[in-house]
Amino acid sequence: MSVRHVAGTAPENLAEPRESGSLGRLALDDPGLEARLGESLERVEKWLLALAQDAGDPRVGALTRYLAEAGGKRLRPLLVLLGAEFGEPWREGITQAAVVAELVHTASLYHDDVMDGAPTRHGVPSVHARFGERAAVFGGDWLLARAAQLAAQLGPDAVQLNARTAGRLVAGQLRELTGPAPGEDPVTHYFQVIAGKTAALLSMSLAIGALQAGAPGAVTPLTEYGEHLGVAFQIADDLLDLRSPADVSGKERGTDLLAGVPTLPVLLVLDGTGPADAELRDLLAAGPVPAAAARRALDLFARSPALAETEAVLHRRLDRARAALDPLPALPARHALLALCDYVAHRTS
Ligand code: FPP
Ligand code: MG
Repeated sequence: MSVRHVAGTAPENLAEPRESGSLGRLALDDPGLEARLGESLERVEKWLLALAQDAGDPRVGALTRYLAEAGGKRLRPLLVLLGAEFGEPWREGITQAAVVAELVHTASLYHDDVMDGAPTRHGVPSVHARFGERAAVFGGDWLLARAAQLAAQLGPDAVQLNARTAGRLVAGQLRELTGPAPGEDPVTHYFQVIAGKTAALLSMSLAIGALQAGAPGAVTPLTEYGEHLGVAFQIADDLLDLRSPADVSGKERGTDLLAGVPTLPVLLVLDGTGPADAELRDLLAAGPVPAAAARRALDLFARSPALAETEAVLHRRLDRARAALDPLPALPARHALLALCDYVAHRTS
């Protein structure tokens, strides 16, 4: 099946992309869907790498393609393509919408790693570690501008979705930065932050795919699904930080603890009554856990009811995501979105 780019924007003379994506365990159970997605994701990959040619200077090009080249799960493009399955997935503009979603995500990572002082991303030095902080910020801006330009070619709905989502990402990040307002419930604040910084772009990806494919009736259920999936995805990330060995997750266990990130398990412990929680609360009270105490904190977490509570919240979210799909026809794409919930439930990276 051929998926054509919007006229005049399809990149030519493309370099071969590096292998990307770590959603290999996602059970699609449909060879036709698998083939369509595989072909489209390959186009997205080539498009992302080829965008650097527009930068007009090879050094700017190297900056702008750096993270795309490093890899990533390509979850957002996948969601665009799955959203499109509820309409006519061969329509023009769908691959381009998938590129828009990944560009916004990549732009946010350029900025996020500067804010977090993160040394690595996707297993390579972070953009700012490689090019410097100011270049990383401008590189992210360039990618965001390019996403806006590509969205503009797709029409007013895409422009609207893209702009609103970028705004929600920034607002989520700002809410994280400022912390809860005096008297605000920290758990409510947590859910607002992750709805903005994670769920917004996942739901937008599904919606833009459905709209580009001419399936406006699928937008509401897909958006609702994406919001719940995004929240669940972030909660699974919080659990990974406490449980998954680095060689499996690619991230050192306890990174969030050392950085003092108020993840959901941490917030639940601060409010908890389990036998190990008092000692854990003392360790967490000052924000970042000192490196020497990290092992003890991880051991205490393993015995705290906060982990099981967090897991229960995760599973309730995934149930809501699955239920949101009820109004949609039983297509292979719906099955894939259900499988994605199972993937998030058992996430290891
Ligand atoms: C990762 O969070 C960060 C995000 C998912 C969003 C970041 C958003 C911004 C920096 C706002 C600017 C947005 C645009 C569109 C330029 P994390 O630090 O918790 O996760 P990590 O462990 O992957 O770094
Ligand atoms: Mg970060």
